[in-house]
Amino acid sequence: MTTLISIADIAQYVDQEVTIRGWLYNKTGKGKLQFLKVRDGTGLIQSVAFKKDLPEDVFETARSLTQESSVQVTGIVRADERAPGYPGGYEIGITTLEAVQIVPEDTPYPIAHKEHGTEFLMDNRHLWLRSMRQWAILRIRATIIRTIRNWLDDNGYLLVDTPILSSLAGENSTDLFEVDYFGEPAYLAQTGQLYNEANMMSFGKVYCFGPTFRAEQSKTRRHLIEFWMVEPEMAYFNLEELMDMEEAFVSAIVQTVLKAHRQELEILERDISMLEAVQTPFARISYDDAITKLKEIYEQTDDPERKAMLKIEWGEDFGSPHETALAEAFNKPVFVYHYPTAIKAFYMQPVEGRPEVCRSVDLLAPEGYGEITGGSERIYDAELLAQRVKEIGINPENYSWYLQLRDFGSVPHAGFGLGVERTVAWICGLNHVRETIPYPRILNRLQP
Ligand code: 4AD
Ligand code: MG
Repeated sequence: MTTLISIADIAQYVDQEVTIRGWLYNKTGKGKLQFLKVRDGTGLIQSVAFKKDLPEDVFETARSLTQESSVQVTGIVRADERAPGYPGGYEIGITTLEAVQIVPEDTPYPIAHKEHGTEFLMDNRHLWLRSMRQWAILRIRATIIRTIRNWLDDNGYLLVDTPILSSLAGENSTDLFEVDYFGEPAYLAQTGQLYNEANMMSFGKVYCFGPTFRAEQSKTRRHLIEFWMVEPEMAYFNLEELMDMEEAFVSAIVQTVLKAHRQELEILERDISMLEAVQTPFARISYDDAITKLKEIYEQTDDPERKAMLKIEWGEDFGSPHETALAEAFNKPVFVYHYPTAIKAFYMQPVEGRPEVCRSVDLLAPEGYGEITGGSERIYDAELLAQRVKEIGINPENYSWYLQLRDFGSVPHAGFGLGVERTVAWICGLNHVRETIPYPRILNRLQP
């Protein structure tokens, strides 16, 4: 009797007859022997159709299958070290086979097993998702998201959802998506933080996790228009406690992926030694010291082109070459704290006695992946916050509920946001965030 199984479980069925349902990934062989690589969403298995063992019509069906035809394969599982697949080491000797839909020869599946241009692949994102690399990336993404939730849930953080439509800007007024809310302007959430700050006063340690939107005109390998962000917010936390928590959280994410996804990381040809090194404690450096370090690196750089990109003065924000250079200097994730107040968001607490810098911290990932988290202590003084809110450029009345939080038991507090896609790009070793989310929204792309 045959058992319907998932390819991921194949090791449990050696020498037994099983059935898998999936799609033809690839077919090789000729004449009497056909090798069908079949995927079912959980893995990829080589199935062998041998003419002399099969009824003629079954062998003919095997021969007629085209790439991405849907198929149900039944056969005996054999252990064979050399057999390719995920998991490798097993193959199926086909006993029978049923085509569900055969992709017609004259309209073949558009993504062949060869190099395609990025634009073509992006236009065909709905199909591209079926290729092994994309399969590996999105499985890792799911694990990252699951680990984020599990870690926070297990460490006393309460999930409290925040709205996507609101009347205020959470970060700034420059990259807002405005929509018409029954005649009133509303904005898609840039962040859930302001609501988190209200929720934190009720629950102590909270997080929100959802899609966020930035109408950013920047076309870089790190920017999406729609991205997923997890934002923890903690009452009575200071900047040092924030960094302690972040490093425990981020290293747990990396170590969980390493444990669960050797196979996927192999598909992506990821050098895992750099990930194995992501252990606490991370490096910590102030913005002031980072500028000094960057100036040293600048002095030591000979290549004029690179030198030009590394030029920086105190007060300027880091570009990607600066973040890369800093991360290289430490070879592990590095926190940069106390950025200039002028280049950070309105809600960040000034440093005592030195208001030109603020109690902010960004976490820079190694290997040139740059900022993956941004956070700070929040202003808890009512008057200062009210003054900052006026500078945003949105009707300050819309912030009245937010400002009121400072009137009823205001406390020092801190929080941060971690961008899921940048984290996926880093852990998977990808050079662009467009492959880290099923349907990327980037500048000038809304399809598919
Ligand atoms: O530094 P950001 O803008 O911080 C905030 O939104 C805070 N309100 C978070 C908080 O303190 N609760 O964004 C946080 C992170 C960045 O470090 C980055 O990983 C990601 O969100 N991010 C983006 N990812 C992809 N595309 C974009 N356009 C992104 N903008 C930010
Ligand atoms: Mg930031």
